Amino acid sequence: MTGSSWIDATRPSAARIYDYMLGGAHNFEADRLAAAAMLERFPDAAQAGHANRDFLRRTVTCCCELGITQFLDLGSGIPTAGNVHGIARRLRPEARVAYVDIEAVAVTHSRDVLAGDPLVSITQADLRDPADVLAAPGVAELLDFTRPVAVLAIAALHYVSHDENLPEIVAACRTALAPGSAFGMSHGSDDLDDPVAAHHMRELAAVMAQSANPAYIRSRVELTQALSGLRLLEPGLVDIRRWRTSSELPDTAVYGALGIVE
Ligand SMILES: C[S@@+](CC[C@H](N)C(=O)[O-])C[C@H]1O[C@@H](n2cnc3c(N)ncnc32)[C@H](O)[C@@H]1O
Repeated sequence: MTGSSWIDATRPSAARIYDYMLGGAHNFEADRLAAAAMLERFPDAAQAGHANRDFLRRTVTCCCELGITQFLDLGSGIPTAGNVHGIARRLRPEARVAYVDIEAVAVTHSRDVLAGDPLVSITQADLRDPADVLAAPGVAELLDFTRPVAVLAIAALHYVSHDENLPEIVAACRTALAPGSAFGMSHGSDDLDDPVAAHHMRELAAVMAQSANPAYIRSRVELTQALSGLRLLEPGLVDIRRWRTSSELPDTAVYGALGIVE
């Protein structure tokens, strides 16, 4: 299933709320109102967004250090500073990146930003249908799946509902990948030591329930199950502010991990 190319400016979307939180300009009044409601209930939401971008940067860098030069970025969002191809090419100038998002503004703006670059593509598709994503020309014709590919689903899997089978979606990606490939993800959770942070995350999900992309929080156990079959790199599944960084800032209520396909 692909996303609609029609832009509904009256209904907030995850991509545009996130763009607003990160200081971008590709959002509408409805997105800004939703962001304000989130910030009221989860005052650190914008900082968590920036922490998530930092996590993305560290996972891409780690993949490059492992020798991976191909990336499939699921739920890539509206382009902002520090996109996957920009990060990867500092270490791997030959890096290829297939971006995928369901949202029309994200796809349209990505198309503008990426135009003329033969080593990147943008596809409008639904990550909940991995077979469709992997067969899309922008993915299948750009990436060589007989060689390692890093699939990234950063702050994107919490839009998969509890009725849908997240472990099956991740497994479908994993089994399409060659040994030495990687799967990275970050995901909101209320399974936290801090009850205030857990409450904030539930409030955030309540605001997103009114948007075009309802968000579903998951426990550590559920996320660990979703990542089964992958060898998680140290430090495993942890708060994104504890993943390969010495930040002393508080936890974000977003877990992240990077696993290797063996
Ligand atoms: C919070 S943003 C994260 C953007 C980027 N990955 C990052 O971490 O900075 C989530 C993105 O996932 C996209 N998304 C939500 N559901 C999706 C789906 N079913 N298929 C593809 N993309 C989806 C949204 O449109 C949005 O752009």
